[in-house]
Amino acid sequence: MKHKIAVISCSLNKSSRSRILAQQAAESLSSLQAEVEFIDLQKFELPFCDGGSAYGDSNVIHLTKRITEMDAVLLAVPIYNYYANAAAKNLIELTGKAWEDKVVGFLAAAGGHSSYMSTMSLANQLMLDFRCLVVPRFVYATGSDFGPGADGGESIIDDKIASRVDELAETTFKLAGSLNISGKQ
Ligand SMILES: Cc1cc2nc3c(=O)[nH]c(=O)nc-3n(C[C@H](O)[C@H](O)[C@H](O)COP(=O)(O)O)c2cc1C
Repeated sequence: MKHKIAVISCSLNKSSRSRILAQQAAESLSSLQAEVEFIDLQKFELPFCDGGSAYGDSNVIHLTKRITEMDAVLLAVPIYNYYANAAAKNLIELTGKAWEDKVVGFLAAAGGHSSYMSTMSLANQLMLDFRCLVVPRFVYATGSDFGPGADGGESIIDDKIASRVDELAETTFKLAGSLNISGKQ
């Protein structure tokens, strides 16, 4: 069975670095023959979760369905105020049960090294609320890990970060489907 894995880029910044991490993770997963879906939150206008009418929004319904269909999800997030950005948290609030029994991994872009544990709150929330299996080795990159790329834009220039992205993709691929307790095809 081919594993379905979504890579969700949560930064709303046009020159996002976490999206660069997300793109490399998607490439790495594709080379492993995973069925990869790249979801860029910049392409979806989402309401703030209000616990009510927001669930009826067409983009929320669309993303809830897509996430539900996945075996695993890689969340690429910017670190804001020692936490994943609000857009990432809002997505999880809006899509709730779609995350049940997923394998989830994190790729984070931050300004400095002191926010290293910032993805842990989301990890805890996903484990406790939705019984997600969180891949323990996440990617955490800062500005100096990026530099000019061949296409004129930014790319990952630190080899350790690049291989860590590949390692996260590989581990996520191996674990994907391991929580398929309902036996869905
Ligand atoms: C509102 C705001 C809050 C931030 N807070 C932190 C922080 O707590 N820790 C940190 O290391 N970097 C912080 N940063 C820097 C971002 O994490 C950094 O710019 C990162 O590249 C953002 O990800 P992105 O490029 O994918 O949007 C903050 C940036 C902004 C705009």
